[in-house]
Amino acid sequence: MLVRQLNQADAPAMLAHLLRLDETDRVQRFARPASDDSIRDYVRRLDFERDAHYGVWQGREDQPSLIGLTHLALDGQGKTAEIGVSVDAGQRRQGLAGRMLGRAILHARNLGVVEVVMYFLPYNTELMELARNQGMRLSVGEGQGIARLLPHPASPVSLASEIMETWADAAGQGVRDWSEGTLAASSVVCGRLSDLANSPD
Ligand SMILES: CC(C)(COP(=O)(O)OP(=O)(O)OC[C@H]1O[C@@H](n2cnc3c(N)ncnc32)[C@H](O)[C@@H]1OP(=O)(O)O)[C@@H](O)C(=O)NCCC(=O)NCCS
Repeated sequence: MLVRQLNQADAPAMLAHLLRLDETDRVQRFARPASDDSIRDYVRRLDFERDAHYGVWQGREDQPSLIGLTHLALDGQGKTAEIGVSVDAGQRRQGLAGRMLGRAILHARNLGVVEVVMYFLPYNTELMELARNQGMRLSVGEGQGIARLLPHPASPVSLASEIMETWADAAGQGVRDWSEGTLAASSVVCGRLSDLANSPD
């Protein structure tokens, strides 16, 4: 199953995935109870220009279902980013969250993000293990934990790696299905790669 960058057209599938989360999962994902209406509001407010969203699809080609979702939320300056992740209950322990996180962290690194954080509730052992696997450092305070990662600076290899992953997604879907988000992501990464290639050192 491929991880693909999502765009505005995927918002209904993102909403359907989040509404499938049960009460406990919603508390873990949003760090508070989340009603259906508050999830609808969250999806309505998503900023597809500033942030990046990654998903994993499953099912028939004409009726795919989004079974995993990762939101990389960037601050105004693009220096720090926060990740939120969820996977359908019946699809866990297959490495989907790990793959989406890896992709989101690679994107953050290539954008020049200095710090990536992920908040979690202290009893969310799955998330803690997942974050450790990504090389994140964990600290747990009162009522909330935080996982932190300081990504390495972008390199030609990290930029090329993201381009390859983006192309692999597109090839997996068929060239005719190239989404605007995929093309936009490729052009950002190509731009950074060419800046690096042209920089004096
Ligand atoms: C946390 C969550 C996203 C993990 O999704 P997932 O697809 O099952 O995670 P992965 O399969 O990629 O697991 C990666 C690693 O995390 C750890 N992990 C995942 N689920 C675990 C579990 N139930 N128990 C212990 N470790 C677990 C393991 O180390 C695992 O690697 P392994 O399977 O090779 O041992 C999922 O449980 C979820 O959606 N929870 C509700 C929402 C939430 O808590 N979001 C996080 C806050 S933003």
